[in-house]
Amino acid sequence: MKQADVTLFHPLQDRIREILLPSQVLQDRIRQVAQQISADYAGQEIVLLCVLKGAMMFTADLMRHLEPHVVLDFVAVSSYGSATSTSGVVRIQKDVEEQIAGRHVLVVEDIVDTGLTLHYLLANLRLRNPASLKVCCLLDKPDRRRVEVHVDYLGFAIEDRFVIGYGLDFDEHFRNLGYIGIMEEDFV
Ligand code: PRP
Repeated sequence: MKQADVTLFHPLQDRIREILLPSQVLQDRIRQVAQQISADYAGQEIVLLCVLKGAMMFTADLMRHLEPHVVLDFVAVSSYGSATSTSGVVRIQKDVEEQIAGRHVLVVEDIVDTGLTLHYLLANLRLRNPASLKVCCLLDKPDRRRVEVHVDYLGFAIEDRFVIGYGLDFDEHFRNLGYIGIMEEDFV
């Protein structure tokens, strides 16, 4: 196990069943995705819209490998529900600061699960008339989808397991892990 895959101390560490995506696997795939984005947006400016909080680490690593000019912005959305499931009611808690009309917007998400968050956010952003609106998502759980959303750039499609780490949390724990892990079923 590499250093980046080790949690030096975490009170809930024994609740992590296994490592699903080690840090090196994440970083290799992120570099590939960034190359594809760089090719597609060559010569254009990208408004990179990080969806807080979960996509923070992914956005930071992705943008390191992007060649086009990047303008970074953040949006925070909350979906009401329990610690592990989405209710379907979404609210923008922190709005985009950039004017996105006529610009190329790339939304960066950590995970698309039911699709409700992204569906709502994309509909909201479309009303502001961006020149283009695309989605880059690290993880996709297709089995969980409740509404159709199109992901233009995807890191990994995964099974329906409760994943944490690399920005993704369980009740605000584990965001700081360098890898994606799976929680013990009986804990969720
Ligand atoms: C997660 C994730 C997505 C959303 C996906 O955010 O970052 O935004 O859930 O779920 P959905 O497809 O079922 O809508 P969360 O609400 O956990 O907030 P966080 O990013 O701040 O942890």
